[in-house]
Amino acid sequence: MTLKTAARQVRENAHAPYSGFKVGAALRTEAGTIFVGCNVENVAYPEGTCAEAGAIAAMVAAGERVIAEAYVIADSPTPVPPCGGCRQKLAEFAANDVPVTMATTGGKAETMTVGELLPGRFDASHMDNV
Ligand code: THU
Repeated sequence: MTLKTAARQVRENAHAPYSGFKVGAALRTEAGTIFVGCNVENVAYPEGTCAEAGAIAAMVAAGERVIAEAYVIADSPTPVPPCGGCRQKLAEFAANDVPVTMATTGGKAETMTVGELLPGRFDASHMDNV
């Protein structure tokens, strides 16, 4: 299974009645496992939970913590980048050189690294004086 296929498939399960915008995410860990997530909205917080956050939560719940590659797909004119919060969540479990492919259902794709998506990231070293 490719990350592209996994992300396309899980996107169909998105619960996005408020935005109408379905997103699918898939990530591969260093162990080679694929985890998927879709966005899940709710009436109180219509932005809900992002697809990337869902995939990361599934990975952590399964006992894995190291992302090797990630893929995000949505029906958009241009590839959809992860939101700010998801960039920090990806960076928690991915090194700066980990590729994140952003794709459209129409076939466009762009790949950036986690470091490019979140330059100057806050990390544990910033708390070294504590
Ligand atoms: N969304 C994601 O799931 N991932 C992204 O990278 C961008 C935005 C979702 C959140 C919300 O359900 C909808 O897209 C519109 O913001």
